[in-house]
Amino acid sequence: MDHHLQVTDSRTGKSYKIPIQGNYIRAADIGRIGAPEDKEDIASLKAARPLQILDNGFQHTACMESSITHIDGLRGTIRYREFPIESVFHQYVYEDVMHLIIWGSIPTQQQKDHVREVMGQAMNPPQSVKDVISSFPRDAETFPMILAGMSAFASTDSVICKTRHQQSAMFHGHLDTADEALARTIAYLATTISLIYCHKNNQPWTPPSVSRSLLGNLLHMMGITDPRVESCLAKLWILYADHEMTNSTAAVLHAGSTLIDPVSAVTAGIICGYGPLHGGAIDLAYEAFRHIGTAERVPPFIERIKAKGGRLFGYGHRVYKTRDPRVALIEELLEEHRDAVEANPLLRVAMAIDRYANQDPYFVERGLKANADLMGCFLYTAMGFDTDMIIAITILSRTPGALAHWRESLTQPVKLWRPQQKYNPPLAN
Ligand SMILES: CC(C)(COP(=O)(O)OP(=O)(O)OC[C@H]1O[C@@H](n2cnc3c(N)ncnc32)[C@H](O)[C@@H]1OP(=O)(O)O)[C@@H](O)C(=O)NCCC(=O)NCCS
Repeated sequence: MDHHLQVTDSRTGKSYKIPIQGNYIRAADIGRIGAPEDKEDIASLKAARPLQILDNGFQHTACMESSITHIDGLRGTIRYREFPIESVFHQYVYEDVMHLIIWGSIPTQQQKDHVREVMGQAMNPPQSVKDVISSFPRDAETFPMILAGMSAFASTDSVICKTRHQQSAMFHGHLDTADEALARTIAYLATTISLIYCHKNNQPWTPPSVSRSLLGNLLHMMGITDPRVESCLAKLWILYADHEMTNSTAAVLHAGSTLIDPVSAVTAGIICGYGPLHGGAIDLAYEAFRHIGTAERVPPFIERIKAKGGRLFGYGHRVYKTRDPRVALIEELLEEHRDAVEANPLLRVAMAIDRYANQDPYFVERGLKANADLMGCFLYTAMGFDTDMIIAITILSRTPGALAHWRESLTQPVKLWRPQQKYNPPLAN
């Protein structure tokens, strides 16, 4: 049965039938509704202006059609290419899931080897990239160093450099070229992060090998040899591999809609990933834990936040107003690595916050719970990473997902993203 909205515009008296498809209406159908701005013109319907939708923060607007990840925030479920996240988490490792998300299937050994080869080769940084990273003070923040490293990589990639000088689209409709560029982009980010890590820790950088996975090479280049770190992250990264239309994925697609190259598009996503309300929340959450110091000081801290109308970083999520399904899976990993995790005194503070927030009506009524990014941090900390590096690594684990969306956009008609604004005339003094 066809469903629709029956709408009557009281300005003109005209009625419209707006089709509903799978709980969506098309903005273009809303654009069929219109009325002239001047009252005198209403009778003649001259110069009708299409009705616009005002949606601050895009809370009710879908900007893409996608077949990659499905999140049901009310039921608390996530599916990657129709596989429930729990089943991929228990059956596969990140390398398989990365392939599933980007290319739609669990890879054969041959497919895995091909991706390893393309990425492994791209992980050998030109001297200019090494020079850019080593020119930063060792205590510089990771975020600007990543941007510099990615820019240096982009300037040495002949295909990426050509993007802005081609009359026809380089990647749109050319999936072979796009796939290679996409794999190189991920490799550039992994290499940049490893170079930064080594520079900050004043240790030598280890060259990659084409026989290792993305994660294997990242850790190898960083000089991390403990096998527990790779086995833990090979699972944890599955949970961050994609999360459909996040702020940073939208930024990648927004930039990508101009037909720019994937390195530049991913850089736009990295910038968003570091924002305090997005991935950067982790830094602020840890800062708060350090500031609180002990479990006894949690209640007054939370009460102060509420009184000031502030935010508890690491809490809340745009989509989940119930429990985030990834949290139970992270808890499995936390249990597996319990000793290393419990050695972190900040965890006791975090647990005390969780206990307090879970019974506090302010948090309960608004559906605010510890988000999966925050929970995952305790594993990273247990593995020896500090927060600045954790954000970089979580962004890397998300980049294949963001690029899967970029790749999907290349199979759809070219459409420049260009939102609108509602103009409000300045108030007279
Ligand atoms: C993630 C986030 C941006 C989602 O926000 P959103 O869906 O747009 O929800 P809003 O910002 O409209 O907040 C809804 C209400 O909850 C409150 N709220 C949301 N997150 C909160 C938090 N972390 N601490 C305290 N209050 C919070 C808001 O003040 C608002 O209260 P009000 O209804 O009285 O005005 C938000 O929860 C947040 O800022 N969290 C902290 C940052 C963070 O951890 N980000 C990482 C996300 S993975």
